Amino acid sequence: MILINNLHSKIALVTGGSKGLGRHISAALAQSGATVIVNYAHSRETALQTVDFIQSSGGKAFAVQGDVTNEESLNHLVKESEEITGETIDILVNNATGPQPELSLEESTWDDYLDQLNFFVKAPLLLTKAVLPGMKEKGEGRIINIGSEVIQLGNANFANYVTAKSAQLGMTRSWANELGRFGITVNLLNPGFIPVERHEGIDPSDYQKGVPLGRMGEPLDIGNAAVFLASHEAKFITGQSLSVNGGKTFGI
Ligand SMILES: NC(=O)c1ccc[n+]([C@@H]2O[C@H](COP(=O)([O-])OP(=O)(O)OC[C@H]3O[C@@H](n4cnc5c(N)ncnc54)[C@H](OP(=O)(O)O)[C@@H]3O)[C@@H](O)[C@H]2O)c1
Repeated sequence: MILINNLHSKIALVTGGSKGLGRHISAALAQSGATVIVNYAHSRETALQTVDFIQSSGGKAFAVQGDVTNEESLNHLVKESEEITGETIDILVNNATGPQPELSLEESTWDDYLDQLNFFVKAPLLLTKAVLPGMKEKGEGRIINIGSEVIQLGNANFANYVTAKSAQLGMTRSWANELGRFGITVNLLNPGFIPVERHEGIDPSDYQKGVPLGRMGEPLDIGNAAVFLASHEAKFITGQSLSVNGGKTFGI
């Protein structure tokens, strides 16, 4: 259950908000009063299902297409979002992901690393630059980077993804230091393994054995944490790395 209900008049942009964790981050922010831009790259139908889902419980949401790995498309996404809502973005959730191939060192190429860096470093950088003028003018803003517990686990055969997610930690802390004086907070929210549509058919029981709370996480666990970090109540929290994974790792 979401206790915070103070995001009225806030505009949130959730990249990759159409499905998986993004859908539930979008829904949780909307349920707390924010108007949510549900970004997607490929499937408008899926994004519209998320918008319907949000609207059916009284929330406000719009689906906006944009490829976050393409600078022109990404700038258009921010412009269109601001035109639709008539407001600048207050809350940016850098969540979108593409394929996450598991590769040994022998199988990996530099491009495999760049693919992940494009999603998790380049896209957040360019999006943050695009929303900064509005946040600075308002004297407040929330940037929530979606990381992963892999930063601490260092999973084998996954260094392309682990490297890019790890880079988000330093990036988050540095941005938090730079933007604090503008009232803008920047935090890293690290989900554990939380089964979503793309994990269909994967048996989570081995993973679950290592979760102190004894269950798999649910997408809304991440949505609720995002609402908290976006809220007024979290205004003194910045540069932090918050693991939402049932205690499987301990926060760094
Ligand atoms: N689920 C987990 O267990 C887990 C664990 C740790 C961290 N995470 C992190 O949580 C975030 C969400 O993961 P997820 O599992 O929810 O992913 P997902 O279910 O695969 O959803 C990915 C989202 O990104 C969108 N997308 C794909 N390519 C895009 C692009 N080029 N530009 C803009 N949007 C694009 C997809 O929309 P289209 O289909 O329309 O392209 C979709 O909305 C990621 O940062 C992931 O690394 C997830």
